[in-house]
Amino acid sequence: MIKFSASILAADLSDLKSEIKRVEPYIDEIHLDIMDGHFVPNLTFAYPILDAVKKCTKLPIDAHLMVTNPEFHVEKLVKLGVDRITIHVETTNHINKLISQIKENNIEAFVTLNPGTPLYSIEEVISDVDGILIMSVNPGFSGQKFIAKSLEKIKKLKEWKTKFGMDYMIAVDGGINEDNIQTVVNAGAEILIMGYGIFRNDNLENLSKTFRT
Ligand code: DX5
Ligand code: ZN
Repeated sequence: MIKFSASILAADLSDLKSEIKRVEPYIDEIHLDIMDGHFVPNLTFAYPILDAVKKCTKLPIDAHLMVTNPEFHVEKLVKLGVDRITIHVETTNHINKLISQIKENNIEAFVTLNPGTPLYSIEEVISDVDGILIMSVNPGFSGQKFIAKSLEKIKKLKEWKTKFGMDYMIAVDGGINEDNIQTVVNAGAEILIMGYGIFRNDNLENLSKTFRT
């Protein structure tokens, strides 16, 4: 099962509603990059934009929190009706607590890690989460180059999933495009988060037909 998740950071934000409608037939979910200018060197969307996106689509929404103190935001995101919250392991000393809090609200809890963060840093929560997001760029911006070393992490997650019968989803975010999508899928990715690959792609219909299942 391959899903396409559209990162609206790469959309034409002056016309967000039409942008979402344009790609909607070819995607499965919306990915909202919430950045605080502190954990990452960029500032992006917060609650009002989430509210606006919810008015444009019925698709599930994944809130990718790139903020220090993610614990300040979980309750509000739950209230606003996101379907998944993705937390960076680097941003909290209380990852276990946050995952429980998210799941208690019947929302999917994903954990994620930067390219420079080792996979063992999520070992203690791997059986608690609904999914793991492998960052294949250093978070902060759309349109960056895929870091090939991320493939090793994806492969390892897939291997563990089979070997130990785990049921987490494997998501990948950053630099995925027509040239590397097959390699990323072969490595084990199940949710492909794409900015440029979706919003700045003339071949989206074909790409979606080929890879979404
Ligand atoms: C990076 C963001 C990604 C990004 C993906 O910090 O988390 O979601 O918008 O965009 P592309 O696919 O263009 O790298
Ligand atoms: Zn993201």
